[in-house]
Amino acid sequence: MSQSASAMDYITSRLSSGNGPALAFGGDYNPEQWPEETWDEDVRLMREAGVNLVSVGIFSWSLLEPSEGTYEFGWLDRILDLLHSNGIKVDLANATASPPPWFSHKYPESLPVTADGVRHSYGSRQAFAASSQEYRRAAAALTVRIVKRYKNHPAVIMWHIHNEYGCHNQPDYSEGAAAGFRIWLQARYGTLEKLNSAWGTAFWSQRYSSWEEIIPPRTSGTWTNPTQQLDFARYSSDELLECYKAEAAIIREHSDHPVTTNFMGFTMGLHQPVDYWRWARYMDVVSNDHYLIADDPRNFQELAMTADLTRSWAQGSPWLLMEHSTSAVNWQPRNIPKAPGELVRNALQHVARGADGALYFQWRASKAGAEKFHSGMLPHAGTDTKIWREVVQLGHTLQKISEIAGSTVTGATNTVDVAILHDTDARWASELDSHPSIDISNIQETRRWHDAFYRAGVTTDFRQSTDNLSGYKLVIAPVQYLLSDTGIANIHEYVHSGGHLVVTYFSGIVDENDHIRLGPYPGAFSELLGVKMEEFFPLPARETIQLSDFGNGSLWNELGCPTTAEVLAKVLSGPTAGSPAVTRNKVGKGRSYYLATSLEQHGMTKLLSVLCDDASVDPITANLPAGVEVVRRQREDTTWTFFLNHGEEPTRLPATGHELLTGTELNGRLDLEPGAVAVVRSTT
Ligand code: GAL
Repeated sequence: MSQSASAMDYITSRLSSGNGPALAFGGDYNPEQWPEETWDEDVRLMREAGVNLVSVGIFSWSLLEPSEGTYEFGWLDRILDLLHSNGIKVDLANATASPPPWFSHKYPESLPVTADGVRHSYGSRQAFAASSQEYRRAAAALTVRIVKRYKNHPAVIMWHIHNEYGCHNQPDYSEGAAAGFRIWLQARYGTLEKLNSAWGTAFWSQRYSSWEEIIPPRTSGTWTNPTQQLDFARYSSDELLECYKAEAAIIREHSDHPVTTNFMGFTMGLHQPVDYWRWARYMDVVSNDHYLIADDPRNFQELAMTADLTRSWAQGSPWLLMEHSTSAVNWQPRNIPKAPGELVRNALQHVARGADGALYFQWRASKAGAEKFHSGMLPHAGTDTKIWREVVQLGHTLQKISEIAGSTVTGATNTVDVAILHDTDARWASELDSHPSIDISNIQETRRWHDAFYRAGVTTDFRQSTDNLSGYKLVIAPVQYLLSDTGIANIHEYVHSGGHLVVTYFSGIVDENDHIRLGPYPGAFSELLGVKMEEFFPLPARETIQLSDFGNGSLWNELGCPTTAEVLAKVLSGPTAGSPAVTRNKVGKGRSYYLATSLEQHGMTKLLSVLCDDASVDPITANLPAGVEVVRRQREDTTWTFFLNHGEEPTRLPATGHELLTGTELNGRLDLEPGAVAVVRSTT
C-alpha cells in the first residue's frame, strides 16, 4: 500500500462501529507491565472512554524472545484476543525498538559508539547501531515471526515498525558506521577526487588518498570538516531508513495493513536525527509523536507548527497522532502537568490540523521504570481524577466530530495559501559549528514566521525548496542557509511565474556541499531580491538595531545596498546604518522580499499584513484575539472550522453553522469561554 489518504481512510473505516469512519482514540498499551488480572479492568475502562485503537508490543522484544530463537507469544495472543472481543483494534508493533539484554550481551559490537569513542552500554533502550548486521538479522527474524503469527488476527489493522527511529542511539560513530559511511560516500561521489572537492579538503591539509582513511566525524582537536559532518548526518539517516525499509518489506510481503513508524516532529532543541521528508515516502500513514514543552508560554503554537509539518510530510493527507501526553512528562527539567481543559484542547488542535485521531503515550501510567512519573490515560490515582474525566470527555468529543475523518486542512479559501520552506539539509547545515553567530537558528526563525501567521489566523504548510510551489500565493524561506541548485532554480521559477517569496537573512548562502555561493550575499538570491549585501553584522547578545519601519531588528543585520529592490525599511543605527533591512522587488510576474534582520513580534505582524495584502492572502477569521486559534478542514462543499481559545478571556467570534460539540446552531456569532473549543460545520 503506498502512502495516500486511502491508508488512513482504511484505519478510520476499520475503527467504525457502524456510523461511518471513526477517529482513532487510544494509545500505547503495555499490558506486559501489569499482572493479567489487570487486563479485564483495562479493556472495561477503554470501552468506557471510547478507546478504539491501541499500540501493543513496542518494547516487548525481551518478553517475546526471552532467549535467542525462543519465542513466547502466549501473553500477546491472550491480550489481542481480549482486545478483539471488546471491539478494540490494534496497531501491532514488530517490537524491534529495544533489543533484549541477551542480545547486546552476546553481540556487544551491535552497540552504538559516541563521537568520543565510548561504546554505549545496554540497560536503557534503543541500544543498537543501525549499521549492525547482527541487529538487522535479529530484527528481521522477530518481524517475520510476528507478522506471520498475527497477520490474520482480527484485532490487528495496522503495523507499528520500531519506535522513534534515531531517538537515543544516533549518530553512531562505531567501526560499523565507518564502513557503512564509506560505502555511502562511494555511491554519492564515485571517486575520491570528487569527495575531496566536495569536502573542500585542500583546507587544513585534509586531503584523503584512500577510502580506508575516511572515518565518521569523531571528536577531534577542533571543528571537524563541515561537509563531512553534513554527509554523516545524511548517511546516518539513510542507514536507519534501510533498517525501517527492511522491516517494512517483510511485513508487506505478508500483510496488506498499513505500515508506519512514529516520527518526532521538529525534535526542538535537538539535532534532528533523520530526514523525515525522505522517510515519509515510505510510510503508508504518516504518524507523529508530540510533547508540549511545559514551560514554553506559547507551547500551543509550537504544537500547531509541528502538526502543520506532519501534515506536510503527509502531503496534505490525514495523518495520525501516535503519541502525546495526557498531562506531565518525566523528561523535562520541571514536569508541569496540564491545566484543566488542556488535554482536550491539545488533542483537538492536532485533529484540527489534519490528524484523524489522537493517541497517547500511554494507556496506564507505569508503576516501575524510568517513566513511572509520566502521565497516562489512566493515572496512578485511578478514575476519580481530572485526567480520567478529561480522557473520557475527549473520547466522547472525538465521537461527536467523527464526520471530519478523511477531510483535509484548508485556509480561508479551499487551499492553504502560504508555505514555509523547511529543508532538512538547510536545518542540519545551519546547525553546524563555526558560523557567524550562535544565535542564528533555522528552527527559531521558522517558528517566528509560523507564529506570526498563527496569530493572524492564516494556516501554513511546510514545503521543501524542490517541491512544486505553484499552488501557493506566498512562500517564506526562513534561514534556508543551504540550498541546492535545483531548489534555487525551482524558487526562481516560482517567483517569475507570479509567486511572492520572502527570503530571510542567512538563506541561500551555501550549496549542497556547504560551499559559499560567491558574489554579493545572499549568493543564491542577490539578483532575484535586487540587493547586494557585502558583510554580515550579527548583533551582540540581546542588542537590537533601530529600523525605519517594522520596529527593531534583532540577532542579525547586514551591510549592503539595494540594486533594483524598493527599500521598505532601512537600518537607522549602528555600523550598518543606511543599509536595507526589509526590501521588495518586482520580478517577472511575482515579487521577492528580503529580510536582512530578525523582526520582533510587533514588526512581524506589520510586515505580515503588507505581505498578505500584496499576495492576496486572507485569514480564516480577521483580527483574532490573542490566544485564539482558528483552523479549518474541508471535504467537498462542507467545512469544519475549529475555534480554540487558549487565552484567559472569553471571546466572541463570527461563526455560522452547526456546532458539533454542543449541537447548537450558530447564526453569525460564537461565544467561546477561556479554554473552550468549538467545531462548526457549514456547507458552501
Ligand atoms: C516518546 C517515546 C515513548 C515514551 C514517550 C515519553 O519519545 O516514543 O515510548 O518514552 O516519549 O514522553
